[in-house]
Amino acid sequence: MFNLLVKPTSEQKQFLAKVRAAMEHYFGDDQKRIDHALQVCRYAEELLTFIDADPVLTLTSACLHDIGIHEAERKHGSSAGNWQELEGPPVAVAILTELDADLAFITLVAEIVGNHHTARAVESPEFRIIWDADALVNFSDVLSYRSAEQVECILQKHMVTEPGLQMARQLFLNNRQDHK
Ligand SMILES: [Fe+2]
Repeated sequence: MFNLLVKPTSEQKQFLAKVRAAMEHYFGDDQKRIDHALQVCRYAEELLTFIDADPVLTLTSACLHDIGIHEAERKHGSSAGNWQELEGPPVAVAILTELDADLAFITLVAEIVGNHHTARAVESPEFRIIWDADALVNFSDVLSYRSAEQVECILQKHMVTEPGLQMARQLFLNNRQDHK
């Protein structure tokens, strides 16, 4: 549940619900992408309880961060980060324009979506939250094969917020079966 430092108003919650519905509609039967976006949203929400950031900008960007993946695959035959960064912003802009979001807000979301695979590309707490929330989801697939020392090293290099680093340690180090 929401436990944000800056809690969204009921109007903002309604807007966020519309963003989520639009993302789910856009991804259609691609449940894997929908689940990923929602998982990133959940971690972003958790990070928002520790980090002072705009919750609507953060959660909208979390929901739409990978929205360019279908166009990347369709046009370039690849879901590589650079293609997603290129193809994501126009889709995010179209979705948010349809929802009557204001231009300044849409521009900020598009900036995050268009840079979310580039470390430290945007200097904002909202960008850092998306970066760490995405890593918390994606690392679950890749870190289980590494030693505890390697995991600690990767996390220290990759995570860009202190709460994100602590959550990653909790997930990928403290919960390990094998402490190699
Ligand atoms: Fe992602």
